This record gives sequence, C-alpha cells and structure tokens, in this order.
Amino acid sequence: MLTEAGRGKGLLPPDFDLVADRAWSAARRVHGHLSDREARFLALLATATPAAGVILEIGSFKGRSTVALGTAARHYGAGPVVAVDPFTQPSPTDPGRGSLPSTYETFRSAVRAAGVEDSVEVHQALSQDVAPGWTRPLRVLWIDGDHTYPGAKRDFDLFRRHLAAGGMVAFHDALHPFEGPIRVFVEEVLTSDQFGPAGFCGSIAWAQHRPADGGAFLPARRALARRARRLVSDALGRDLKGLRKLRWKLMRALVPHGPVDPRAWVNLVASAEKR
Ligand SMILES: C[S@@+](CC[C@H](N)C(=O)[O-])C[C@H]1O[C@@H](n2cnc3c(N)ncnc32)[C@H](O)[C@@H]1O
Repeated sequence: MLTEAGRGKGLLPPDFDLVADRAWSAARRVHGHLSDREARFLALLATATPAAGVILEIGSFKGRSTVALGTAARHYGAGPVVAVDPFTQPSPTDPGRGSLPSTYETFRSAVRAAGVEDSVEVHQALSQDVAPGWTRPLRVLWIDGDHTYPGAKRDFDLFRRHLAAGGMVAFHDALHPFEGPIRVFVEEVLTSDQFGPAGFCGSIAWAQHRPADGGAFLPARRALARRARRLVSDALGRDLKGLRKLRWKLMRALVPHGPVDPRAWVNLVASAEKR
C-alpha cells in the first residue's frame, strides 16, 4: 500500500516496473486499442498521482484500460476505479449479433479474469447521467468515452470541478483523428493556469491539476500547445484523407509522445510543497 504522503514525495514504489508489466500483460488479453506504452502510463497515473480521491474512467468498452488502471490501483491500495459506460455495444438489435455477449458481460468477465473486480465500481450509465449526483474528489479523470468535440467537452466540463489539487486529467485518442479530445486538451487545458505539467504518452494527452501554481508551467504548456494546436480541426475522422491525412500525420510526428520515464514523471508532478 502506498500512502498519500508517499505519493507526493516524488518517489516511485520499488516494484513499480513489475506492476506496470503485470498491468500490461493483463490488459493485452482484453480486446481494445490501448497500447503497451499507454497501459503502463495508466498504471503510473493510478500508482503515483499525488492526490486523494478516486479514479474515474469515462468509457470502458470491454475493460482494457479498466484492467490496466485496476491492476496498479489494487496492488497499491490506490483505488477504486469507477468505470462509467452504458455498455450498449453491440446493441441487441444489431444484425448478426446472434449470441455474441454484450460489452457489459465481456467487461465483467475481463475485470474478473484480471483479479481486479473488488477494486472496480461499475456504473452502467452515460457520464452525463452520473455527473449530477457526483460528489467524490478525483485523483484521476480518464476520459475515453464520446470522442466528438461536444462529447469530450461535456465530460471535461462536468467533471473538472471534482479534480483534486495534484490530480490528473487524461484524454485517450488525442493523437488519433478524432475532433474532441485534442481540441479540448489544447483549448481548455493547455491554456489554463489551473493546470501545471502536461504532455502526451502515445495517444494519451495528460495534465496535472495545479490550481495553486499552474501559472509557473505556462511556458511549457504554451510550447506544447503550439505543436498540438496544428492537429485541431473540426474535419477529422472519416473526412481525413489523401494529402490532408499525410499533413496531419507529419504534424502529429512533431508532438512529443514517446514513452514516459516513470521516475522523471513522478518527480515532475511531485506535490507543490516538495518543490
Ligand atoms: C473508445 S471506447 C473505450 C475504450 C476503453 N477505455 C478501452 O480501454 O478499451 C469508448 C466507450 O465509450 C462509451 N461511451 C460513449 N459515450 C459515453 C458517455 N457519454 N458516457 C460513458 N461512456 C460513453 C462507449 O459505450 C464505448 O464503450
């Protein structure tokens, strides 16, 4: 168990690399699009985010990211992971569904098989229906639900007020051609002095909520925003083809999004008191 005090001191538990390996090897058994690098980064968020509160996942699908977060959170007593998804895919009326299980059944079996069921609280619901009754502070707000601009903005707007100081917001698919996550990250997070350290790991865009001293990180956030802003467009998704797609890929290559060194990261996000 990692104590709250331990999390704010810029120290990583000595067995973290093993736990990150376990998180990835459990997550990779679940169908989904989270990469090795991203699963390890989620394990890092769950382990070392220096704030009190719960981990909220918006958009669970079959449980790949839930298992990555849950494996680390359970190991360090740093949960729970609250998973919110209507689990409506495939719909019972989809042609050809036949006897395929619903994503809800697949999700439950994945979480059980990974041994993290007791660290995951499931809400079969839309995020916008959970938000009005939400009162718990958030250590980690993981947004991987509706990737349209209005959808991603709504999730950020509804839950940002619950982010604990020192907590993290992270958007999946920010470096894939979806209009919402990258635009909300650039326009709402990177421009705001409420946020401090920020970056990308794979297609995850992340930032730390630092209401007391976020302004000190403005030059770094601005430098990142200059590169990331070139990816903001309301014509992504299926409209991205040919030369425009090539240009978008070139612009994406200019945004640093390599693997995160866990030790350097923990030091970067160590609580303001330590700095
Ligand atoms: C990209 S998938 C999530 C992938 C998952 N995190 C993983 O690691 O495999 C998007 C999910 O978001 C869910 N979703 C869409 N809109 C939502 C909303 N408003 N609230 C909660 N979940 C939503 C969908 O049902 C779908 O399962």
